[in-house]
Amino acid sequence: MFTQEMLDSMKKVEAAREANVALEPRRMTAAEKDALLAQYHPDYRPEGFTTIKIGPNKGEKAPVELNEMLEGHSRVLDLNVNLNKIDYDVDVLVIGGGGAGSSAAIEANEAGANVMIVTKLRIGDANTMMAEGGIQAADKPGDSPAQHYLDVMGGGHYANRPELVRKLVMEGPEAIQWLNRLGVEFDKAPDGTMITTHGGGTSRKRMHAAADYSGAEIMRTLRDEVLNRGIPVVDFTAAIELIKDDEGKAAGAVLLNMETGEIRVARAKCVVIATGGAGRMHYQGFPTSNHYGATADGLILGYRAGAKLLYQDTLQYHPTGVAFPQQIYGALVTEKVRSMGAKLINSEGECFMHPLETRDVAAASIIRECSTHEKGVPTPAGKAVWLDTPMIDMIHGKGTLEKRLPAMLRMYLKFGIDMRETPILVYPTLHYQNGGLEINAEGMTSVENLFVAGEAVGGIHGRNRLMGNSLLDVIVFGRNAGQQTGRRFRSVTVGKLTLDHVKAYDDDLKAAGIDSDTPSPKLLPDYTRKFN
Ligand code: FUM
Repeated sequence: MFTQEMLDSMKKVEAAREANVALEPRRMTAAEKDALLAQYHPDYRPEGFTTIKIGPNKGEKAPVELNEMLEGHSRVLDLNVNLNKIDYDVDVLVIGGGGAGSSAAIEANEAGANVMIVTKLRIGDANTMMAEGGIQAADKPGDSPAQHYLDVMGGGHYANRPELVRKLVMEGPEAIQWLNRLGVEFDKAPDGTMITTHGGGTSRKRMHAAADYSGAEIMRTLRDEVLNRGIPVVDFTAAIELIKDDEGKAAGAVLLNMETGEIRVARAKCVVIATGGAGRMHYQGFPTSNHYGATADGLILGYRAGAKLLYQDTLQYHPTGVAFPQQIYGALVTEKVRSMGAKLINSEGECFMHPLETRDVAAASIIRECSTHEKGVPTPAGKAVWLDTPMIDMIHGKGTLEKRLPAMLRMYLKFGIDMRETPILVYPTLHYQNGGLEINAEGMTSVENLFVAGEAVGGIHGRNRLMGNSLLDVIVFGRNAGQQTGRRFRSVTVGKLTLDHVKAYDDDLKAAGIDSDTPSPKLLPDYTRKFN
């Protein structure tokens, strides 16, 4: 299955393994990192970006593919949506059935709101489910939320919104306890304390995990809680536009049944966008570790309704996406592999960086190795570097990899690769949108009664997120959105429903000379083969 070139390079990796295990690569200086990012990180490629022409972020940079959606054709323009016929009338409408949406719905339900989740696939079909390595929280002796705060800010290049980071780290320990009480099976030592590890850019071991399927375990628990509480979940139903009332407040959404094509109207006193990420937009042609529905829908809906985007031009390329075998190209190889000691090695068997640099720096280093340094291993899709996974059992003892990374091991064994014995080939994969819709400390956008939680938020992680802070933010900001809307709905009176903002946005597009017939939001990626 490996090519001869791969096998020849693998021999060099094996020959250097003992020395590489003992090696302590130095961390890069801030100046070295800045220079590396500017030259190699995809966020710095001018051809990947364009200028937003209309709306609150007019004049700013956005990925070409996202901008195509911002300039796209709203699906409701071709429909005669009857806003007088209300199909769902709720206090709180949550759009998205992942970790943030579920947490929001649970808390809104707890507060006594009549809450409903709509999700374009099924509840749990979300990036939360795909998260592997763990969830950060400063709850161990020798650590503190202040220490966590500094790590988050440093990782994010100090572009993070301080008030959001403060909330993230201060409420982290309680988020872990909440999940623990709901039934998440965290890895624990025999005395019952949580086992925690490092991630890239962390100064303390604060990564709590459930082996290497932490997100699946958290999502399983949240989904059970939603269903046990009897919270209505409308599956296979996408929100295709937000509805406002005649005072400009968010007041519901137009829904599309993905199976039948039927249109439904949901009226709500408060709306929570929890639509997750954007990996399936395949920015700059990158593969992705994201779930099938990650197409930035919430960003488009929120923007057309008048909410501002923040850091829409910064994406996270997870350094270790699967580069081989081709069948799982782009899938996630958890950072936990590196946090357990596996190092990144080039085609010549050289360890070229500290394994726990932040993700942007690690991704840029790999791209440099495979381009300028010409020390990448050829794969069917391009070039890759080795992640020397046999180091894990060498460092921690036989059986460790199997116990701590069972899902990774199984994924590779399906293709005849035993990562306990054989290094694996990796290359950056599109993993996370660092930016999203701007919110205040209460989780609300500049559009009254429109809240956002989870990956669709911009500003928490600045320009680069650290591992394990996404699972934390979906819980902290998801719960927050549920608590805020669970209080707020009682004082909200919804006026006359309208889609005038969609028409006004379309008029602005036309006035700017843009008349696209590309349906927007995307909803699902298009993988159909195009034949001549
Ligand atoms: O590498 C990982 O396990 C991913 C975690 C994250 O994005 O937080």
